[in-house]
Amino acid sequence: MLTSATLLSLLAGTAVAETVHGVVVFTRHGDRTTKHYGAQSLTSLGATQNFQVGSDYRVRYLAAGSPHQIAGISESKYISSQIYATAPNSGILLNTATAFLQGLYPPLVDLAPASQILSNGTKSTSPLNGYQYVTLQGVKDNSPDTIWIKGDESCPTLDASLSALESSPHFTSLVASTRPFYESFYPALQSVSSIRSPSSLSFASAYDIFDLLNVARIHNTSTTASISDANFFQLRTLADAAEFAHSYDAADAARSTGARTFAGAVLAQLTKTVTSAGALKFSLLAGSYDTFLGFAGLADLTAASADFFGLPEYASTMAFELFSAAGGSTGVLSKDDLHVRFLFRNGTEGALTAFPLFGGKEESLGWAEFEREMQARAITTVEGWCSACRSEVDFCKVYGEVGAKKEGGMSTAVAGVVGAAVTLGVVALVGGFVFMMVRRRGSRGEKGGIPAQRLGEKGSVRSFTSEVTV
Ligand SMILES: *[C@@H]1O[C@H](CO)[C@@H](O)[C@H](O)[C@H]1NC(C)=O
Ligand SMILES: *[C@@H]1O[C@H](CO)[C@@H](O)[C@H](O)[C@H]1NC(C)=O
Ligand SMILES: *[C@@H]1O[C@H](CO)[C@@H](O)[C@H](O)[C@H]1NC(C)=O
Repeated sequence: MLTSATLLSLLAGTAVAETVHGVVVFTRHGDRTTKHYGAQSLTSLGATQNFQVGSDYRVRYLAAGSPHQIAGISESKYISSQIYATAPNSGILLNTATAFLQGLYPPLVDLAPASQILSNGTKSTSPLNGYQYVTLQGVKDNSPDTIWIKGDESCPTLDASLSALESSPHFTSLVASTRPFYESFYPALQSVSSIRSPSSLSFASAYDIFDLLNVARIHNTSTTASISDANFFQLRTLADAAEFAHSYDAADAARSTGARTFAGAVLAQLTKTVTSAGALKFSLLAGSYDTFLGFAGLADLTAASADFFGLPEYASTMAFELFSAAGGSTGVLSKDDLHVRFLFRNGTEGALTAFPLFGGKEESLGWAEFEREMQARAITTVEGWCSACRSEVDFCKVYGEVGAKKEGGMSTAVAGVVGAAVTLGVVALVGGFVFMMVRRRGSRGEKGGIPAQRLGEKGSVRSFTSEVTV
């Protein structure tokens, strides 16, 4: 049933006003050099794209007068408690987040603290006309926090799932049927040292080939001329199919491991905005296209638009907006009043557009439903990831020991009792170790970094998490 307020606004032909409390944004890097050689970096065009997108988010969420301005956010001067930004420790993703943040909080020009009058009357301005240093948290690949953006790496169950995909009849028959098409690109690619003969080109490297040619088309005049638009479209469509299949499979949860931890990260960040009464206002995560594809499958965005089967453009963004009907109290946020809206923007063109999540019809969901649906799909703890992946990376070993003792080989009643005693001892020991590890590696609790693990929330101490200052 329509409330009278909704009815009124419908009659007046206006949207119901809202108060936005916070947003979590995930961005893909902008234009870059090819991934083929494993040393990809953001180009000047790419940095400009991420900067442009950051500036557009500024217009929507920071600028005074925007109907979506986040309640209480500092419009011009960066305030560290309001913003959380993180990226894996890779140059391209750190630079992506940096360029976005440059757009979000541009130089302050004549305002403090970027500009001050000293006691002797001299004016001092920080470098680059008052450039603001927004803190960006880099994440090392041996830190438990690595799973939130890169949950698809070092995950044996996912690797096994991908091998199964690549040897499946559907996949191998596509490799066979598209072989002549792929081999026709040999002349354009023979200067790439690892491509020695036409037979090294096939659907099995669909993304790699698309990427080499896409980068060349943007940066190299001779390639632009040599590949027709129709062929290029075909290459991209095949890469879409290959990469979507690598990122999501409804029948195999392991396939979307990266998207499931990402869902956990989004939920953790939004929850921090709720529990901090809106103190944390803007979270930025920088990552890759596979997270978009995996999440599109996981959250059933493909039901809202088949375009979600396709690779997102460079500098694409997903945003999760936490809001309540206007007039709702600022300060303590009541979950009953809160809603979440998912938005997507494909690259730097076009508008940030809302899409219904989870195969529904509504463009926003009540908090309780959003939380329930996300939890049903997400991996929300490091332990959960370690066991889903059966990973043996160092930070998982602590959980592995517990598991091994529980499954000890002795099966008599006596052995059971002994086992229980041993297990208790191990748990106590392991518990202490986990706590220490949390203290050493935990994220900056008070500002709402993604938790190293649920346990970690107890030990919210400043830590040694590597920090990169923008
Ligand atoms: C004022 O003080 C600053 C900092 O000590 C110094 O760098 C600057 O040269 C001084 N200006 C004048 C006019 O003395
Ligand atoms: C541009 O493409 C041509 C033909 O594919 C290749 O030989 C050349 O090395 C490329 N140039 C650059 C700068 O990558
Ligand atoms: C984004 O753009 C690409 C290229 O134009 C397209 O293939 C893909 O389907 C688009 N994705 C969405 C969700 O619109």
